[in-house]
Amino acid sequence: MKAVRIYAYGGQDQLKLEDMPKPQPGDNDVLVRVVAASVNPVDWKIRDGYLKEMLPYNFPIILGWDVSGVVESVGKAVTQFKPGDAVYSRPNILRDGTYAEYISIDANEVAFKPVTISHTSAASLPLAGITAWDVLVKTAEIKTGDRVLIHAASGGVGSLAVQLAKAHGAYVIATTSAKNSALVKSLGADEIIDYRTQAFEKTVTDVDIVFDSLGEEIQAKSWQVLKPNGILVSIVTPPSTEQATAHNVRSAFVFIQPDAAVLTELATLVDSGKIRPIIAAEFALEDIAKAHALSESGRAVGKIVVHVGKP
Ligand SMILES: NC(=O)c1ccc[n+]([C@@H]2O[C@H](COP(=O)([O-])OP(=O)(O)OC[C@H]3O[C@@H](n4cnc5c(N)ncnc54)[C@H](OP(=O)(O)O)[C@@H]3O)[C@@H](O)[C@H]2O)c1
Repeated sequence: MKAVRIYAYGGQDQLKLEDMPKPQPGDNDVLVRVVAASVNPVDWKIRDGYLKEMLPYNFPIILGWDVSGVVESVGKAVTQFKPGDAVYSRPNILRDGTYAEYISIDANEVAFKPVTISHTSAASLPLAGITAWDVLVKTAEIKTGDRVLIHAASGGVGSLAVQLAKAHGAYVIATTSAKNSALVKSLGADEIIDYRTQAFEKTVTDVDIVFDSLGEEIQAKSWQVLKPNGILVSIVTPPSTEQATAHNVRSAFVFIQPDAAVLTELATLVDSGKIRPIIAAEFALEDIAKAHALSESGRAVGKIVVHVGKP
């Protein structure tokens, strides 16, 4: 099969398209024929070696941890899927990833893909969608009427987080730049802060949940907008517990794991029209370096999808 692997940490030139044997599914695995994958910032953070202390790998590594595809075969202990099923997944990040024509995934990490959208759109959902869910639903326990500040609302995670918060009846304040404000508004945001011209920390108050996907000074300025006992949840930098105590609020850090149950919830939300994936750009597997370059620019609007096989 064709796959993109890296043999050392480094730049986009480390991404090598090559032929290799198809993986053999273990007893609990599903072998998925990949129709589409997507690129997340974690892909190039791993490629560059930023996460090597946290995520130990043996080279070569197939990057990519989003997939939508079709079940090719199943291991002998797998009962919930059969060949031909359309599925999607955010597989285990410590196994080979999805920049490949086939991937073997633990069946417990796989869910049926939403039926109303293409594989292209479905591949954009798992990693960013589980992230939005873990932050808002599992960690912050979002409820109707909550005031939620979502930073980087036009990004892969942010564009889903805005819609998920709205689906839970929240009042959403979103930071974005003017060029993306119409899109973010169309996702349901109630208030838009143009971060290039407005200081959010001077205008936003009484927030129940801050969704921090930027860290650094954005995180530092976010404490003051929370109401007492509100929560700041970061997906980039563990927040300081001292700062949380000083501001009489709570804080949490989320690093997601595979979660088929959440993927099933997300599929229901998509199929009932409450969430729509936003696709920034689509690339062929051969052009994976260009897809990484777009992700590394920090300017992608929604998700970056990679076409791998036929639907
Ligand atoms: N811990 C976890 O489990 C986890 C899971 C998923 C993601 N993450 C991390 O979360 C971060 C975000 O991921 P992502 O996939 O959403 O990234 P992304 O799609 O690459 O984000 C790009 C978007 O960020 C916006 N942006 C950049 N700077 C901004 C600012 N100062 N204020 C407001 N918007 C800004 C850009 O809009 P403009 O062009 O308008 O600036 C662009 O649309 C990454 O660092 C990723 O590694 C962590």
